[in-house]
This record gives sequence, structure tokens and C-alpha cells, in this order.
Amino acid sequence: MKIAIIGVGNIGGTLAKAWLKSGHKILLGVRDLESDGVQGLLSLSEGVSAKPIYEAAQEAEVILIAVPSAAVFEVVKNMGYVADKVIIDAMNSVGKKPEPFANTTEAIRHHTRCRHLVKCFNSTGWENIANPMYGDTAIDMFMAGSSEKGKQVAAQLSKEAGFAECYDIGGDDKVQLLEDFALFWINLAIMQRQGRNIAFKLLRRP
Ligand SMILES: NC(=O)c1ccc[n+]([C@@H]2O[C@H](COP(=O)([O-])OP(=O)(O)OC[C@H]3O[C@@H](n4cnc5c(N)ncnc54)[C@H](OP(=O)(O)O)[C@@H]3O)[C@@H](O)[C@H]2O)c1
Repeated sequence: MKIAIIGVGNIGGTLAKAWLKSGHKILLGVRDLESDGVQGLLSLSEGVSAKPIYEAAQEAEVILIAVPSAAVFEVVKNMGYVADKVIIDAMNSVGKKPEPFANTTEAIRHHTRCRHLVKCFNSTGWENIANPMYGDTAIDMFMAGSSEKGKQVAAQLSKEAGFAECYDIGGDDKVQLLEDFALFWINLAIMQRQGRNIAFKLLRRP
């Protein structure tokens, strides 16, 4: 797949590396083509290129948005028409919500009219995305949204990043729950000082 990654920090940079290994073509959508982070990712493989946000978004089939929530409005404005593409929202509104919207997914939906929008890769720390293994056990990922196509793509990309399962927690009405779940992880890891090497996995009796 051709995947545009908008925001190539902890989350975007980590997923770019993971998806490069699976053979996807990665288009970094960035403000500064010369930054050290961008140049570092470019040096990894010929499968990665860096472009202005508009070009990366237009060329891609799938767009991952992983910028601070406050930047969501600028990003959606810069992407151009993307209603037919799959958009994966990995953001959390830590601190301030993107008002008047309750969360970034609602802001993206309103401004892009995207039909294949899904929230995924937001519910755990970037270190767990870089390495989803705890001993021999792979942790789980979670996604929410009403687009089956969006969820199919997110589930595939989650498996390729090394997660055991990508559980579908429901439609658009469950997006806020998934963001609250991320805040639950943040609360445990940071406020309650459990550290960032903690993760969730669904256990099931046979
Ligand atoms: N860190 C985590 O463990 C974690 C876990 C789950 C979800 N998240 C969520 O993922 C998102 C990104 O977090 P992160 O830790 O990866 O952040 P980060 O390391 O600070 O990276 C943010 C990226 O966004 C870009 N950016 C900022 N403002 C922009 C704008 N107006 N237009 C275009 N690009 C812009 C930055 O580019 P420049 O270099 O040009 O500034 C940078 O590449 C946040 O919403 C966060 O809540 C983070």
C-alpha cells in the first residue's frame, strides 16, 4: 500500500519503520523536508520518500495522522480532498480538545468528509508500538469507527506492526471510548507511575 504519514515523531516515525519492513511505500507528509528526523527515515530505505503534506496525502491510499491534537485543523486543511482514502487517526486530545469537536476523529470527519476513517494506534505508548512483545507474548491493539474498509486496513497494519490482535471496539460512537482508554493507559503509566513499559492484552478462557 502507499501510506502517507503526517507527523513523523514518536508515533509516525515508529510506524513508518514498521510498515517499511512489511514492504509498504511510505510517503512522509512533513513541513520540513530537511529535518533530522525526516532525513533519518529517508536513509532507511528507498521505499520511503518525503513530500509536502498535500502531495503525500494525494498520492497515498492510506493516511496516518499522528500530530499533536492542536494541529489537526491545519493538517486537514493542508491535505486537500481525501474523502475516498482510508484515514487512520492515531491522536489523543491530551490536555485540550479540538473544540468544538469532542476528539480529533470528529474534527477529521467534519473537515474531510472521509468515508473510511478509523481510530487506531492511539491507545498505547510509542515504545509498545516499536516493540509489542512482552517476552513471548504480543500485546493487542484496538480500533474504533464505522468504516469496515478503514478497520480492515487498520487491522492488517496492526498485525504487520507486530500486535497479536486488533480488537474492533465498535463504530463511530466508540471513538471517544478509545480515546478515554488511551488516557487510562497514560494515567496508569505516568500519573500513577507504573512506567511506560505496561500494555493491555485481552485474556480469554478456552
Ligand atoms: N507519544 C506516544 O506515546 C503516543 C501514543 C499514542 C498516541 N499519541 C498521539 O500521537 C500524536 C503524535 O504524538 P507523538 O508523540 O508522535 O508527537 P511528536 O513526537 O511530538 O511528533 C509530532 C509530529 O507532528 C508534527 N507536527 C506538529 N504540528 C504540525 C503541523 N501543524 N502540521 C504538520 N505536522 C505537524 C511534528 O513535525 P515538526 O517536526 O514539523 O514539528 C512531528 O513530526 C499525538 O496526538 C499523541 O497524543 C502519542
